[in-house]
Amino acid sequence: MAVAKPLPHDAARLHVTGQARYVDDIPSPRDTLHLAFGLSTVAHADITALDLDAVRQSDGVVAVLTADDLPFDNDVSPSAHDEPLLANGSVHHIGQPVFLVVATSHRAARVAARKGQISYAERPALLTLEDALAADSRFEDGPRIYTKGDADSAITSAAHVVEGTFDLGGQEHFYLEGQAAMAQPQEDGGMLVNSSTQHPTEIQHKVAEAIGLPMHAVRVETRRMGGGFGGKESQGNALAVACAIAARATGRTCKMRYDRDDDMTITGKRHAFRISYRAGFDAEGRIQGVEFTHLVDCGWAQDLSLPVADRAMLHSDNAYLIPAIRIESHRLKTNRQSATAYRGFGGPQGMVGIERVMDHAAHKLGLDPVELRQRNYYAPMQSATAPAGAPHDSSVPAPDAAGDLASRGAPADPADVTTPAADVQTTPYHMPVEDFILHELTAELLETSDYATRKAEIAKWNAGNDRFKRGIAFSPVKFGISFTLTHLNQAGALVHVYQDGSVHLNHGGTEMGQGLFQKVAQVAASRFGISLEKVKITATDTAKVPNTSATAASSGSDLNGMAVKAACDTIRDRMAAYLAERYQQPVSAVRFEGDRVIIGSEELSFEAAAMECYTGRISLSSTGYYKTPKLEWDRIQGKGRPFFYFAYGAAITEVVVDRLTGENRILRADVLHDAGASLNPALDIGQVEGAYVQGAGWLTTEELVWDQTGNLRTHAPSTYKIPACSDRPDVFNVALWNGENREDSIYRSKAVGEPPFMLGISAWLALSDAVGAYGGSYPALNAPATAEEIWRAVRRIAPEA
Ligand code: MTE
Ligand code: MOS
Repeated sequence: MAVAKPLPHDAARLHVTGQARYVDDIPSPRDTLHLAFGLSTVAHADITALDLDAVRQSDGVVAVLTADDLPFDNDVSPSAHDEPLLANGSVHHIGQPVFLVVATSHRAARVAARKGQISYAERPALLTLEDALAADSRFEDGPRIYTKGDADSAITSAAHVVEGTFDLGGQEHFYLEGQAAMAQPQEDGGMLVNSSTQHPTEIQHKVAEAIGLPMHAVRVETRRMGGGFGGKESQGNALAVACAIAARATGRTCKMRYDRDDDMTITGKRHAFRISYRAGFDAEGRIQGVEFTHLVDCGWAQDLSLPVADRAMLHSDNAYLIPAIRIESHRLKTNRQSATAYRGFGGPQGMVGIERVMDHAAHKLGLDPVELRQRNYYAPMQSATAPAGAPHDSSVPAPDAAGDLASRGAPADPADVTTPAADVQTTPYHMPVEDFILHELTAELLETSDYATRKAEIAKWNAGNDRFKRGIAFSPVKFGISFTLTHLNQAGALVHVYQDGSVHLNHGGTEMGQGLFQKVAQVAASRFGISLEKVKITATDTAKVPNTSATAASSGSDLNGMAVKAACDTIRDRMAAYLAERYQQPVSAVRFEGDRVIIGSEELSFEAAAMECYTGRISLSSTGYYKTPKLEWDRIQGKGRPFFYFAYGAAITEVVVDRLTGENRILRADVLHDAGASLNPALDIGQVEGAYVQGAGWLTTEELVWDQTGNLRTHAPSTYKIPACSDRPDVFNVALWNGENREDSIYRSKAVGEPPFMLGISAWLALSDAVGAYGGSYPALNAPATAEEIWRAVRRIAPEA
């Protein structure tokens, strides 16, 4: 079977030889026009005058459009209709598009766009969370609050209380291919759009609105992105809509791509948070209650901020059973780029909150941070409800080995920790946790990484070193899989078997480097029992599969894999029924394997079988459809089952810090991650490695800096530091957990795109551990823990050092 094989990415060769075609590589007509936006240079103002004469006279300019020139809706928002394509009388952040230049070349458009004279009457800009809170500038009427139990009294009566506030910065996506789109006018007013987007249906919808046509007149095609990471869920709308409007106005193909500085100045990033916490622990380090306040910097437009902020709340427990909790989330509106989806979609921010609490408590109580975490874990998955062949590796205790777990410091029965039995395994949003595997997974990782020995060795090394200190830290991940907007959990597919036995595969998911197309092709090949070469992966196309969801929430393979399976099985069943009858065999005697169709004692090649079915007038084409079962969620109450299942993982990171400069390095990282029964272990390991590094980058070196006027000063790789190859941990041991999904997912695999991002939290905690070695008090690092932040923290806790 093709599934479960560690095959390379289907386009790996094309990627490395430069032959893979991205939007900007698609051949376009010679008279193609190129677009650029003129941008706001102030953070908040009314526009009093717009002098675009110099722009119009600039070389190569064909047209210049403002909000007044737009024929239909002036909106590119994915949610609240609050995001005009071109500023409508006022501007709300530096970098907001004000006018659109259409010119004969990319360069001509960009040069002309700089020549606009915009006059402003400035208004007070809200550039900090304090500003926004003071002005009560927010999305939604007030804070959203989720509660379970009475957190305040649980904390007040606890033996130990930790509290604090820290800042958690945003993050630039830094997809290697910048945002890009191209629109080609078709006969009858229709529009063909190529877009670097995770969400072709949304592009279709926004383009149709903008040119006043039904969705059927707009076709969107996406072969691949050079990375999206959430930054192409909604941020591609502006370019596609601009191209379509210009193409409609000129009758010519129009193309737009942002240069890197523009991309960073215009588009949204990860949401920055300020998190305040107050948590109570008993003498053994068991959490009694916790209160969180999230101040969320949403930027100027709503975009996807509400579900992002919700998901942060939904991950405020991470792996821990918290008897009483209260989470208050303020979605603040500021005059910055509109923050958007980014790998983990708020989950990472919520998770950093509780990991900070655990770290702080371990420091205060003088407990080993791993042991403290294990004591607070949810109870293990019950073997009675585990699938047959329960997921565990021979080197690991069985999930029901409670005695064994107790010997590792976990409570024998975590039910003892809390009160009412019925409430034992529910999350802060009252969802039962039934698939918890972190006890076994943690035990295995501690062993393979040699944690205890290394920790002792590091303590010894630190005692003999004044200037440099090493640190080591563990962090677990429990990440909820499904879109929290329940209706998005659906997908479609379209599969054709041609008369020569070759298969054409299409589905609603998009390829951004994560390997979705390869995984889904492996599913199709497995259903027909054929080799992968027979399956042709084709571009995502709104004319083939309609009404798709964004490829997001890590659910690409879960949803589209199931839809493809359904389509393949429909065709296979038709073939089996026909062949069984033709060869006078029961249907149950028909099998598809090894590129052959076996019909009792007869055997045909898959090609011959396809030809026989075709001549027998059997339809060899089918759609497939899937919707995720069991979901039920009330986001206002904060109650229900927003997730089909959880994906798990854990990491241990070791770092070294220099107190004189704050410079630091990741020396080693050990990761064990749960991808269920992996559809493709090679691709999944790639996802885990990339996600870890991206997560560590977020919390260590990637710092976004805005000046006092609201201007983003880190708008290029010269000033914004993403991890380079040399920043990869010197020793990087990444393994997949040997288990299968308890829920009936595609071949019992688990979503893998986002969860391992949060393994990078262990790097931040390791830095905290290293800094803590300089002094007595808790380092209380902010994030990112840049060299400067580490330098400051050392001075805070050990002024003499
Ligand atoms: N991997 C690569 N190489 N490039 C990307 O842009 N995006 C991530 C993750 N892995 C991304 C990636 C994000 S944010 C998500 S939601 C998932 O992939 C989406 O794809 P999937 O649902 O197929 O996992
Ligand atoms: Mo991923 S942030 O859900 O695109």
